Amino acid sequence: MTDVKTRTIERISDPREMLARASAERRAGRRVAFVPTMGSLHEGHLALLRTARSRGDLLVLSIFVNPTQFNRQEDFQQYPRSLERDLELAATVGVDIAFVPEASAIYPAGHQTWVQPGPLADRLCGPFRPGHFRGVCTVVAALFNIVQPDVAVFGEKDFQQLQIVRRMAADLHMPVEIVAHPTVRDADGLALSSRNERLTPADRVAALAIPRGLEAARALYASGERRARALWSAVTRAIDAAPARPGGGPSIRLEYCHVCDPETLVDVERVEGPVLVAVAAHVGQVRLIDNTLLGRPPADR
Ligand code: PAJ
Repeated sequence: MTDVKTRTIERISDPREMLARASAERRAGRRVAFVPTMGSLHEGHLALLRTARSRGDLLVLSIFVNPTQFNRQEDFQQYPRSLERDLELAATVGVDIAFVPEASAIYPAGHQTWVQPGPLADRLCGPFRPGHFRGVCTVVAALFNIVQPDVAVFGEKDFQQLQIVRRMAADLHMPVEIVAHPTVRDADGLALSSRNERLTPADRVAALAIPRGLEAARALYASGERRARALWSAVTRAIDAAPARPGGGPSIRLEYCHVCDPETLVDVERVEGPVLVAVAAHVGQVRLIDNTLLGRPPADR
């Protein structure tokens, strides 16, 4: 048996070479499993990669900080990048190929074709990040064409993204199975995110109001509460209770909290089936999102 720790990763940057490799593997009857990322890998990404490893013969990871999904140029430039470390981490979970393209290879000169998602992209983060999901869909569609995956794994941390990608794959008849992975959290409850690196210690304390609020909503739901408004209040109360900034003023600013149908992302008034409680908030310079799914059948947990 190969020790996954000593396995070397093949690094490919040319989309044509990646496509040729993936096509050859598929012709040979091997299943291609894929995890697209923007790098700066953490335990959440590694968990997705482990799941993908168990579902395919060839495991492909892409690392591409996609310029078209950032609303602000500054955000794109500040996005953390750590390629050498990422490749080392990827080797520990059995990645076969790291696809690391340049932006000019993904968006060739004269690029003008986009994948425009429907109303799912107008909900939750949609109004605050115009064009974001169009950028995500366009790059994920391009990556699927290049990597030819049989199965691709996405995290529930970005629940809206997951649902939009599922919808895109179904609507455009993409021959790929989309698998969801539960959110991976730090011991203190904060959902892992590459952006957490930019939180100061005080920011991090404030950020914990998010998982605390979601936990409070879970507890209320478990005690029988079915009014969406009450679940919403549990979250907003936790955010309001976060310690103030040293100079005064709130340390965390809620952008939205929605209690919604996990399929349509439309707000509900009463919880009658599974429901998604989704939050976005600004802490310091960082925008964080998180969510929890209530009433999900235990088998899918
Ligand atoms: P990125 O933020 O790097 O995330 C890559 C994948 O890891 C996504 O499917 C995301 O949902 C998942 N992920 C991130 N943090 C997670 C956590 N704490 N628990 C579980 N899964 C987690 O999402 C993107 O990149 C991009 O939009 C991309 C899909 C690559 C398109 O550019």
